[in-house]
Amino acid sequence: MAGITTSTTGRIPFIAGNWKMNLDHLQAIAFVQKLAWSLKDARHDFAATEVAVFPPFTDLRSVQTLISADDLELKFGAQDVSEHESGAYTGEISAAFLKALDTPYVIIGHSERRTLHSESDEQVAAKVSAALKHGVVPVICVGETADDLELHGPSAVPVAQLRAALAQAPDAKDIVVAYEPVWAIGSGKAATPEQAEQVAAQLRIVIAEVLGQDVADATRVLYGGSVKSSNIAGFMRQPNVDGALVGGASLDIAEFASIAQFLKHVGV
Ligand code: PGA
Repeated sequence: MAGITTSTTGRIPFIAGNWKMNLDHLQAIAFVQKLAWSLKDARHDFAATEVAVFPPFTDLRSVQTLISADDLELKFGAQDVSEHESGAYTGEISAAFLKALDTPYVIIGHSERRTLHSESDEQVAAKVSAALKHGVVPVICVGETADDLELHGPSAVPVAQLRAALAQAPDAKDIVVAYEPVWAIGSGKAATPEQAEQVAAQLRIVIAEVLGQDVADATRVLYGGSVKSSNIAGFMRQPNVDGALVGGASLDIAEFASIAQFLKHVGV
């Protein structure tokens, strides 16, 4: 049960809600207020489990202002970032802009960006490096497709993707890694806790090789793909799984709050 408590690993569990292209800035304000109330009602201990939402770009300013004005303990992040600093890149958002909004986190290399926007491993690496340069913590997503799983087994592709993502960041200290099997995302068919643990352990070995054992010991490795309140406990019991990147279920306030309150289901 080492993955669920900071006392054994020193890693604070992290529950992250990836909204994808859902909720405009007005809806985001109402949502974050209600989520904060739900967690307060449940006496959520943010020091014991960190909770973050990842809204669309147009919501970030509103969410940041609300969190800061109401002194909420919720965190937030962006869903993507440009690898470029500034200039003629129509439609892109730089890490400097995210930092100017005090954005703590940014998701990089989500499978939907890799697939729908043909993001390469090199681009993911450049984005990781851009985020780190500006002090925005990258949540680096890796994961295999169903075909990869059949051809190469569960960890080969995620391991290769993580190595590639860290290629331009040999001195990184503060990163989060999310293992998201593509076949589990939005499918209702989550990986088993044992599958998630197996890959998470391999990813931690990669982090140790590239960034050193101390960074590997401190890095949160999340599982993502059809996480719900009914299956979160199984993942959080795994020693190398330190949290979840939640898509669909993060859009339901009660359900997401219940996932964030996973300690109640784990029974410790
Ligand atoms: P899901 O999405 O929870 O809806 O499967 C996870 C993700 O894409 O991050």
